[in-house]
Amino acid sequence: MPLPALLFEVFTLFPEVFEPYLQSSILQRAHQRGLVEINLYNIRDWTSDRHHITDDEPYGGGGGMVMKPEPIFAAVEGVLGSPPACPVILLTPQGRTFTQSVAHELAFGNDASVPDQTRRLALLCGRYEGVDERVRQHLVSDQISIGDYVLTGGELAALVVIDATARWIPGVLGDPDGVLDDSHASGLLEYPHYTRPAEFRGWSVPEILLSGDHGRIARWRREQSLLRTWQRRPDLLETAPLSKLDRKFLDQLRTSLDSIKTDGSSKMPGSGEPPKPPDTP
Ligand code: ADE
Repeated sequence: MPLPALLFEVFTLFPEVFEPYLQSSILQRAHQRGLVEINLYNIRDWTSDRHHITDDEPYGGGGGMVMKPEPIFAAVEGVLGSPPACPVILLTPQGRTFTQSVAHELAFGNDASVPDQTRRLALLCGRYEGVDERVRQHLVSDQISIGDYVLTGGELAALVVIDATARWIPGVLGDPDGVLDDSHASGLLEYPHYTRPAEFRGWSVPEILLSGDHGRIARWRREQSLLRTWQRRPDLLETAPLSKLDRKFLDQLRTSLDSIKTDGSSKMPGSGEPPKPPDTP
């Protein structure tokens, strides 16, 4: 079996949370193909007291429990050495926000010049109120949040990171271009998808998709991506790479919205429908 492209070393108090998902998703196939390897370590196995305690009350008082530093250092250094042989990523709501481009960075690193080597990443799942600050300061090299909400622990966040990162590895998805079409991969939301039947409960698939004209279909999909992004996530348009044609289409959208506001008459470019304005927060 060749070396896996990605190796995740996961440190958690709840390894059993991972197994059902890893054994029933695309990740299982990736594992069987030798592309992605995931090792699970129970931090509790590195406790040295009789009761296998992994948490304690916070110094200074206050509610909640804090994960103790000793078992975490012992587990991570026991597996990865000291200093750790690979990046150690703490899953925490205080981390940098996880995005499709962070997933790409984790999959390939910032240095694309070293291909054909296993990328090894350690994921450390926090629990309770958090982890002792010395873990952040002296063990962890990166911190990732999957969004501005607080989970009861980092396990679900680690699964999200593993899943989204593994999708970048060639061979993990059936369709090799799948990941390039995904929402966010191009900086835009993805266009709508349809499959058979062509008519369902009186709702038809857009004619153009049945036309066989690949050039027009590609342009329609691009415009749908632009339209959706403009309506739902206009912030993405500020950074997405846009062609002249894209900009022209967006200008038409804005103009038709302006004319609706003034005389209520306009149609959305390319669709025959009036445009819906961007969602306002
Ligand atoms: N642990 C708890 N909440 C989290 C979040 N939003 N992202 C990553 N890890 C977390």
